[in-house]
Amino acid sequence: MDKKLVVGNIGMMFGMAHLEGAMGYDAEIALICDSNPETLAAAGKKYNIPEEKWCTDYHDIINNKDINVVSVAIPDQQHKQVCIELLNAGKHVLCEKPLALTREDIDEIVRAAEASNCKFMVGQICRFTPSFEKAKELIDNGTLGEIYFVESEYAHDYMNIVKTKFGDGNWRADPNRHGLIGGGCHAVDLLRWLAGDPEEVFAYGTHKALLTVPYDDATVAIMKFPNGVAGKVFVSTGCKRDYTMRTVIYGTKGTLICDNTSPTMQLFVADENGVAPEKPEIVEVEVNNHNAIKEFAVFADAIINDKPVLTDAREGAKTVAACLAIVESSVTGKIVKPNYEF
Ligand SMILES: NC(=O)c1ccc[n+]([C@@H]2O[C@H](COP(=O)([O-])OP(=O)(O)OC[C@H]3O[C@@H](n4cnc5c(N)ncnc54)[C@H](O)[C@@H]3O)[C@@H](O)[C@H]2O)c1
Repeated sequence: MDKKLVVGNIGMMFGMAHLEGAMGYDAEIALICDSNPETLAAAGKKYNIPEEKWCTDYHDIINNKDINVVSVAIPDQQHKQVCIELLNAGKHVLCEKPLALTREDIDEIVRAAEASNCKFMVGQICRFTPSFEKAKELIDNGTLGEIYFVESEYAHDYMNIVKTKFGDGNWRADPNRHGLIGGGCHAVDLLRWLAGDPEEVFAYGTHKALLTVPYDDATVAIMKFPNGVAGKVFVSTGCKRDYTMRTVIYGTKGTLICDNTSPTMQLFVADENGVAPEKPEIVEVEVNNHNAIKEFAVFADAIINDKPVLTDAREGAKTVAACLAIVESSVTGKIVKPNYEF
């Protein structure tokens, strides 16, 4: 393709992270879009984007022949419609997580993405978090030995955003936008990346800490991963603590305890007799839990050099499929096998 990336950005709240990613890459920003004119103006001014490059209708981006890359950071329920229109118009798409909220929507997006000649990436940003990249490296290079248990959590107190972001029919208050899918998809996707696709899940949910949302605010799931690896995810959106995605990887030779909000990780590596040290090695790591610059750079590299995308539509859909299975198990009380056939 033409090596020049000409970008359109749809959604100017969290979408500002995508904009920063594109600007950090030195792509040309052709149009920014938000259906709310005030939000649009605030973002335009913040990033010194001239007014002639602002629009409130995303079709202006679709109809702009120069734009070849589009970022989508709008409510999850709209991802399918907008992404499919963009793919049909021949645009490469970076879509926020979760890919979508329903089985029907993820099926349709995967089909559209795979029928197109465009790159489609889901913004599973935890895969660009330095501590989690290090965890992946320590698994892949054998430092931790054979992995047998992985756990991750997404514990994020939504109480301070609940008034502004969950009131009066806000898209986050949709029962389909279960916290396990909306935020918990980060932890589920991380474990999928580190340990493979869970084959079976079993979950419990509770609803005690954040009563203003129409779904459980805490869910714990145990999972059976490939090669006999066991796993656990804990998601809480009503927790009374600071934000954490504490993640622990247990292997036959070592254990890693890390987080996306901590500047250090604890690494235990056993000696030649298989004995772990009493104290961990403290490994310093950059804290960057929304590494949008690297996310965009990786996407750009896939487009320019025609490489596979790390988190393509199928990857994003598998994460949603695993999340849907967890929610189903928490409702039915039964073990559920996620359906990865799209
Ligand atoms: N990766 C992460 O850590 C992370 C964090 C927050 C949000 N997100 C995801 O980003 C997406 C957006 O979330 P948010 O927090 O920015 O939501 P938000 O509700 O705060 O903002 C969404 C923006 O999109 C605009 N919008 C809605 N429909 C539009 C349309 N059809 N055309 C143009 N603009 C439209 C709204 O006016 C609003 O400004 C969601 O998919 C969410 O799950 C991801």
